[in-house]
Amino acid sequence: MHLFISLVLFLSLGYDALAAPAGVVRSQHKSKSFRVERVRRSDYVPNGPVALRKAYRKFGIAPTDFSGIDLDDFEPFDVKHTSMAVSSNKAADETEQTGSVSATSVQGDVEFVSPVQIGGQTIIMDFDTGSSDMWVMNTELPKSAISGRTVYNPSNSSTFQEVNGTFKISYGDSSYANGGLGKDTVSIGGAVVKNQIFGLPTEVSDSFISDENSNGLVGLGFSSINTFDPGPQKTFFDNIAPDLDEPVFTSRLKSEGVGEYEFGTIDHKKYSGQLVNVTVDNSNGFWEFEAAQFSVNGSSLQTITDTPTAIADTGTSLMLVSPQIVKAYYGGWAQYSGSVGGYIFPCDFELPSLSVAIGNKFQATIPGSLINFAEIGKNKTTGGTVCYGGVQSNSGSSLQIFGDVFLKALFVVFDQRGPSLGFASPK
Ligand SMILES: *[C@@H]1O[C@H](CO)[C@@H](O)[C@H](O)[C@H]1NC(C)=O
Ligand SMILES: *[C@@H]1O[C@H](CO)[C@@H](O)[C@H](O)[C@H]1NC(C)=O
Ligand SMILES: *[C@@H]1O[C@H](CO)[C@@H](O)[C@H](O)[C@H]1NC(C)=O
Ligand SMILES: *[C@@H]1O[C@H](CO)[C@@H](O)[C@H](O)[C@H]1NC(C)=O
Ligand SMILES: *[C@@H]1O[C@H](CO)[C@@H](O)[C@H](O)[C@H]1NC(C)=O
Repeated sequence: MHLFISLVLFLSLGYDALAAPAGVVRSQHKSKSFRVERVRRSDYVPNGPVALRKAYRKFGIAPTDFSGIDLDDFEPFDVKHTSMAVSSNKAADETEQTGSVSATSVQGDVEFVSPVQIGGQTIIMDFDTGSSDMWVMNTELPKSAISGRTVYNPSNSSTFQEVNGTFKISYGDSSYANGGLGKDTVSIGGAVVKNQIFGLPTEVSDSFISDENSNGLVGLGFSSINTFDPGPQKTFFDNIAPDLDEPVFTSRLKSEGVGEYEFGTIDHKKYSGQLVNVTVDNSNGFWEFEAAQFSVNGSSLQTITDTPTAIADTGTSLMLVSPQIVKAYYGGWAQYSGSVGGYIFPCDFELPSLSVAIGNKFQATIPGSLINFAEIGKNKTTGGTVCYGGVQSNSGSSLQIFGDVFLKALFVVFDQRGPSLGFASPK
């Protein structure tokens, strides 16, 4: 974990805590907020098709468009493989996928991670507003799955307790994690929830094992879609929210370097202009909002006819939009390749911006530079590098999934009041 040694947590001062019966540490006077850095993995190698497959798996989306150019003139770059021990059951989740880019590599499908303390042990995890389970890699997993990583050891924690129940995540394909439940004191950036319930996998598929730099997930979606058996358990945010100054957390991601999450307060110095408040429909358990119009490079607004809502998902790297948007956005200068799995274009092309109307009061504009996701190969005819788009199709699914490509362009408030989302331009 040498990467994170220099990582510093900013704890808010005046965090005056007293134990309280609810299991949450309460402060006498409400003055609580806390920040946690979101760190870009130093070994992060963005891999567009892998990020797309991961999102499709997560939301059970079936790829439908296998059309597109044959790519005789396209030569994919070799993607570096991690040289970790691979467990016996070579999961089909990465191999059933076609694609010119190495299908087995899942390195780089998570860009940002944050430190979380469980029973006093610091574990590097992903924060995921697109799901609601918390689970952590731990010493109950086979040695081959955890070698070389810092995982949670329940037997080293005096506050750990087993919980009668199970958890099982399985995505659209054979990617999975399953095991029992436990509870322990969980602290994020200095805010403490006692008896937070989380999953302790005893088995995980290779797609999780290969991602060496994340040791679990903190789900920040709505508790209604928590998948634990015998029934949904509260997320960390639901547990801590009653104790915060305001029942919110904000995200301010950055394309390079350190971004942050802040819980409990809206720091008005972090954005410029208006903070626009949009109603959230949480009936599907997501931070879902109206996004019914778009425009390309500042031209006039067009109405999205099939999927007028989107979810804000910190756990997805790309921005997955209606097929109507990708067609309009990439028209003329990019090519769709079913075999690569997405839209590609010459890397030196200056991408247009994409704006999305959020509700009817705000237009979020994602600059073209954020939409140039990663190099993916070489054009054999011209010798030029070919890049993969950060905006890709949601394959006609009923959800548009606005991940990091979108979120990096904004300051976002996830607000339990309403519930609602606030959007502004970051400073
Ligand atoms: C490679 O470059 C040629 C000439 O500009 C172009 O027609 C072709 O579509 C390019 N192929 C890819 C995969 O980018
Ligand atoms: C955790 O427990 C293991 C044995 O189960 C021990 O080897 C290790 O040193 C302990 N780690 C800490 C940080 O106490
Ligand atoms: C655990 O749950 C199972 C089934 O839900 C039940 O049969 C068993 O009695 C429970 N055990 C304890 C110790 O609560
Ligand atoms: C987008 O707009 C800018 C200026 O408004 C222009 O220079 C650029 O060529 C446009 N890009 C495309 C792809 O139309
Ligand atoms: C956003 O709107 C909701 C009502 O829909 C309200 O409760 C909440 O306080 C508002 N948030 C902000 C930051 O003004």
